[in-house]
Amino acid sequence: MTEAERRAALEAIAAEVRACTGCRLHEGRTRAVPGEGHPSTEVVFVGEGPGMNEDREGRPFVGRAGDLLVRLLGSIGWRREDVFITNVVKCRPPQNRDPEPDEVAACAPFLRRQLEVLDPSLIVTLGRHSMGRFMPGTTISRVHGTVRPADPETGAGAALVLAMYHPAAALRTPAVEQASYADIGLLPAILEDARARRAGREAAVVPGSAAAAPAASPTPPVTNHSAPEPPALDQLTLFR
Ligand code: URA
Repeated sequence: MTEAERRAALEAIAAEVRACTGCRLHEGRTRAVPGEGHPSTEVVFVGEGPGMNEDREGRPFVGRAGDLLVRLLGSIGWRREDVFITNVVKCRPPQNRDPEPDEVAACAPFLRRQLEVLDPSLIVTLGRHSMGRFMPGTTISRVHGTVRPADPETGAGAALVLAMYHPAAALRTPAVEQASYADIGLLPAILEDARARRAGREAAVVPGSAAAAPAASPTPPVTNHSAPEPPALDQLTLFR
């Protein structure tokens, strides 16, 4: 898919989300929040669901949690417009309650289709509801900062998944904020791993094809979180 095709496909999904009446959450929404970001990014962040500010603006992570997410990204030299940010449920649960299982299930096809279009190398889950979609059967305190391959059922069969705490939890608890900075610091190296794994899988599927080339040559340089200065923007390679 070209970038223009991905952009159009994502916009078509967003239009369906805005018109969706598939669960009770549509009744209380001001605006649905389909998600936003770079259509060619390799990195997708998945939160839980819109809060009050997101419901007003129709955009994900625009409140205080979003400000922290931007600071976390900035700590590794990344910008929010270079990744894609979306949520497990696209409409605000009343009083910011947890989304119900049937609401998550009703919204799941939208997330799956977004991931199929984006075909990311790396997914970052924010909070336990998002973690539950990609790493079921565990707890956020146990898995934050750890990585596993995405189940192809999620729509992102080529991706690695990193679990992180939700930024709202980090705003409440300094130790969680500290853990979040440590976890996001792992991302540049994980992205390199994800690319190498992906190149290897593609080479295995099509032996001798052009896809085999990255396995023979080093993966392109990405941000090095241990570097004292974040790399210049033109060195950020979050795109395929
Ligand atoms: N919290 C989320 O999980 N998602 C948002 O978009 C905003 C806050």
